[in-house]
Amino acid sequence: MVLAAPLSAADYPAQWQRVAQTSDGLEYRIRPIRLEDAEHDKAFIMHLSEESRYKRLMGSIREPSPQLIERFVHIDYQHNMAFVAVIDDSGAEQIIGVARYACGPDEADAEFAVAVADVWQSRGVGMALMRFLFEYARAQGLRRLYGLILASNFRMLDFTRKLELKLSSLPGDSTILEAARDL
Ligand SMILES: CC(C)(COP(=O)(O)OP(=O)(O)OC[C@H]1O[C@@H](n2cnc3c(N)ncnc32)[C@H](O)[C@@H]1OP(=O)(O)O)[C@@H](O)C(=O)NCCC(=O)NCCS
Repeated sequence: MVLAAPLSAADYPAQWQRVAQTSDGLEYRIRPIRLEDAEHDKAFIMHLSEESRYKRLMGSIREPSPQLIERFVHIDYQHNMAFVAVIDDSGAEQIIGVARYACGPDEADAEFAVAVADVWQSRGVGMALMRFLFEYARAQGLRRLYGLILASNFRMLDFTRKLELKLSSLPGDSTILEAARDL
């Protein structure tokens, strides 16, 4: 498979946006992340409960470093992609969920990660974000998406089964499972 050279931020894939509704009928929007989201993305991560932040980042990080945020928002929309779910909060956007992938060295496999703000969980946002991310990855020519999940993260394990991902254990580490699907 041949992938094009990395895109610049000027190549924002604006056509990949959609309006969605939570399972209880509230409207939100899914769109590709952009550089200007840095502060909002940081606020999103910092407002996650300690438990959700731990599950997402697989570690106890109180405040994401500027380098991590830079990495999260400075993406090429092809080898690295992130969709945010946003609501309008008194005229300003607020991020309520993020799903992303980053390609590995062979550029056909990518690792995904997802998190939804605690008060927005169990309302369909995570599923909508992941389905959109899978669709996008397929359109980019990726072959496989996989995620690393704490074996104790039962909610995420349920979630991956619903997404028809295959779970497997990693050699030598019983605390982490891999959830993967061919595209
Ligand atoms: C895992 C996570 C992303 C799911 O997002 P979400 O928006 O809550 O999920 P959805 O509402 O789309 O739920 C989809 C499915 O997930 C599972 N799920 C969601 N909430 C659940 C809960 N409270 N208990 C058990 N399963 C649950 C169910 O299978 C659900 O299907 P259903 O709607 O038919 O019941 C979210 O809980 C989260 O951000 N967790 C913390 C961060 C994390 O663990 N990230 C994963 C690391 S990659």
